Amino acid sequence: MDCASGERVPRETERPVTEADAPGKVILFGEHAVVYGRPALAVPVHRVRAWATVEQAAEAVTLRAEDLGLEHRLGDGAPDPRVRPLVDLLRRTADTLEISLPPLTVTLRSDIPISRGLGSGAAVATALVRGVSLHLGRSLPAASVSELVYEAEVAYHGMPSGIDNTVISLERPIHFAKGRPPLPVDPGTPLTLVIGDTGVESPTRKIVEEVRRGWRQARSRYESVFDRIGELSEQAVRLLEQGAIVDLGKTMDANHQLLIELEVSSEPLNRLVTAARASGAAGAKLTGAGRGGCVVALAGPDSAGEVAKALEAAGAGWVSVTRVG
Ligand code: PMV
Repeated sequence: MDCASGERVPRETERPVTEADAPGKVILFGEHAVVYGRPALAVPVHRVRAWATVEQAAEAVTLRAEDLGLEHRLGDGAPDPRVRPLVDLLRRTADTLEISLPPLTVTLRSDIPISRGLGSGAAVATALVRGVSLHLGRSLPAASVSELVYEAEVAYHGMPSGIDNTVISLERPIHFAKGRPPLPVDPGTPLTLVIGDTGVESPTRKIVEEVRRGWRQARSRYESVFDRIGELSEQAVRLLEQGAIVDLGKTMDANHQLLIELEVSSEPLNRLVTAARASGAAGAKLTGAGRGGCVVALAGPDSAGEVAKALEAAGAGWVSVTRVG
């Protein structure tokens, strides 16, 4: 049985087609340390997004993941492991709404580079939950969306901190620590961020496991690095609220140095960070799990173009300028 148990939604409450979307994200401070309970700071990236289109269908419930070239009809055996967490999420969304899924087709797509630390998985999952609930005439609070998406994140990444699903479902800068309600942060001045992609995949689960191995072998050294990263995150929240861009940039540089100490940076990441700083960025660091993926640079509104050019010249395959606040 594919439909969640519960009351069948009257067809009148269903729309023929529903669109929903969700942004990407960058972690500005605190990746990895956040897995060990330290605070972090993340912001949504509206320039890149994931979309869900939900359409009435004749008989089956079908999930299409366009970017992966995969389609699964519920009830047709086991889904491909790459879409299984999304199929499960579709079912759990219906369970949370306490309604049966009517025949529908959910199509998912995204322009967020995959496996680059920009939250593509959490954004696609968030768009799915928003699209399906809206299509069925209900709207879920951001906290419920975030909880549902967290389960999909667990399936993809192991034991994530929960920062991605939280910042993407709230769509606001957040001061985040595991087990605490997220605190929205209001930037004192808008931030201009330039994101540059090394083009190298950054598999979160693998890198988090490698950091865990290092932590087991040198626990007190890792704990002390995590403590220092946590302190930088706390300082950064205050600097962001004050709009102290220059000091915020220096704090990003310090965070990047600690990520180098954790051995999650790489030559291409360091090259992009150096290029961003040399072209006038107030600061720059890797973002996300590291080893590959993206850097994020803090630019002034007038220097963003120069920083973007410098990142391209230093080998970034994809560059995006985004404003926060
Ligand atoms: O690579 P991303 O964007 O999934 O970010 C990973 C952030 C980590 O702190 C390394 C892991 C986590 O669960 O917070």
